Amino acid sequence: MNDWSSTEHVLSYLRRADKIPHRTEGESVLLEEIKPDSKRILDIGSGNGRLLDLCLMKCPAASGVALDFSSAMLEQLREKYKGENRVTIVEHDLNDPLEFEVESFDVVISSFAIHHVDDDRKYKLYEEIWNILEKDGVFCNLEHVSSPTENLHKKFFEILDVDEDDSNILLDVETQLKWLNAIGFSDVDCYWKWRELALLVGKKY
Ligand SMILES: C[S@@+](CC[C@H](N)C(=O)[O-])C[C@H]1O[C@@H](n2cnc3c(N)ncnc32)[C@H](O)[C@@H]1O
Repeated sequence: MNDWSSTEHVLSYLRRADKIPHRTEGESVLLEEIKPDSKRILDIGSGNGRLLDLCLMKCPAASGVALDFSSAMLEQLREKYKGENRVTIVEHDLNDPLEFEVESFDVVISSFAIHHVDDDRKYKLYEEIWNILEKDGVFCNLEHVSSPTENLHKKFFEILDVDEDDSNILLDVETQLKWLNAIGFSDVDCYWKWRELALLVGKKY
């Protein structure tokens, strides 16, 4: 069951999105990896476009694609980008293959979204992201990852002070870095981490 089809779930997330501890630290490390002359940015599971906005601010010549499947989030996006021709909104379920021309983005970003698909699909999605990234492109995934122990997992949710999202399918950092390397990404690493929040980055040279 994916909770993001519920408007109440979406609004509850948006109300506390700015309060997620340390998130801005991860976002600022992510922004360090985005070249200011980037041209095309894809935000996967963009929500209301929070991360895309930050990247577009850094890249004045860039256009963006905000991709999400939740009708409540899509409504937020349509309202926010009304009359804004830099951003295209795409309704898409991440369980289905990405449908873009080959190598059409120099930046692919995502925050706290890909952990909503199962692990097989995560791997395929990473392959699809590799295929749509241009040479010299970058993939930055600020992600909710699993803890190595149940105690650490509980502690993370105690600090967050929210109930766990039933649609979370958390995976450890190490497996995801191994996958990115296997697919062909370079300079793969966890560039930032606080408890279950991690920034996974890979480049395409
Ligand atoms: C925690 S929110 C993060 C939103 C935004 N990226 C942010 O950082 O604020 C998760 C987002 O992933 C989207 N999402 C979850 N499962 C999805 C799926 N199967 N296909 C597309 N989007 C999905 C949700 O609709 C939601 O917008």
